[in-house]
Amino acid sequence: MTTHERQAGLPDHVAIIMDGNGRWAKARGLPRSFGHHQGVGSVRDVVRAAGEVGVRYLTLFAFSSENWRRPEAEINDLFGLLKTFIRRDLAELRSRNVRVRVIGERTTLKPDILALLCEAEDSTSGNTGMTLVIAFNYGARNEITRAAKAVLDDVLSGKLAASSVCEQEIAARLDTHDMPDPDLIIRTSGEERLSNFLLWQAAYAELMFVPEYWPDFGAEQFLAALSRYSARSRRFGGLQPAAAGAET
Ligand code: IPE
Ligand code: IPE
Ligand code: MG
Repeated sequence: MTTHERQAGLPDHVAIIMDGNGRWAKARGLPRSFGHHQGVGSVRDVVRAAGEVGVRYLTLFAFSSENWRRPEAEINDLFGLLKTFIRRDLAELRSRNVRVRVIGERTTLKPDILALLCEAEDSTSGNTGMTLVIAFNYGARNEITRAAKAVLDDVLSGKLAASSVCEQEIAARLDTHDMPDPDLIIRTSGEERLSNFLLWQAAYAELMFVPEYWPDFGAEQFLAALSRYSARSRRFGGLQPAAAGAET
């Protein structure tokens, strides 16, 4: 598959809070698990569309560190879907030259799921196309806390001078240390919050809240979001480029 020419104004990194599976199912009188199942179809559509249009990084929030508060049966459904997705779709991801990365707390995951996540990462590590980042058992406060502990360890062991602790040293110890910050964060289902997603990295991300439940979100809605993004003006605390050189 050839990647289209990258369009000007295309975000390098899009992150998505895939929300609304339960409400999608409820609206149809179905159990929540149907919504999660249907949501995997949206994952496939959006991964394909993002790769084809030339997005370099796509991060999908699949399971949060707070999702453990859900009933055990639902947690098992979600874990089962991730396992099935990796088993069934890894070959296609490989053939599309997609590199898989996983962010989130790993130490509390069971060995079988950990092994699958590692297999997905290892078997695609040489790919040079889009990076698909799966945020699994991910919580931003957990990630930042782990990074802070890693900084502390390095200071205590003499590897890092306390006076050298800076934003870059913290960012270098986040799970996302080898990727750019998200340019665009999309949340589906009409909720307007970040729910502990990429709090550090979202500092200057454009936020987009769309009404569709995740199972109703596909390539068309994704491309529409990219087009809306291209009309946004990002200033990073500075001035608009046209005004930057102007006399005041
Ligand atoms: C998103 O859908 C999937 C996950 C959080 C894993 P929800 O399950 O949160 O669906 P709603 O928000 O209850 O509709
Ligand atoms: C955020 O959705 C987590 C994922 C999409 C994986 P939630 O449905 O868990 O968020 P809240 O609880 O509504 O904030
Ligand atoms: Mg939700």
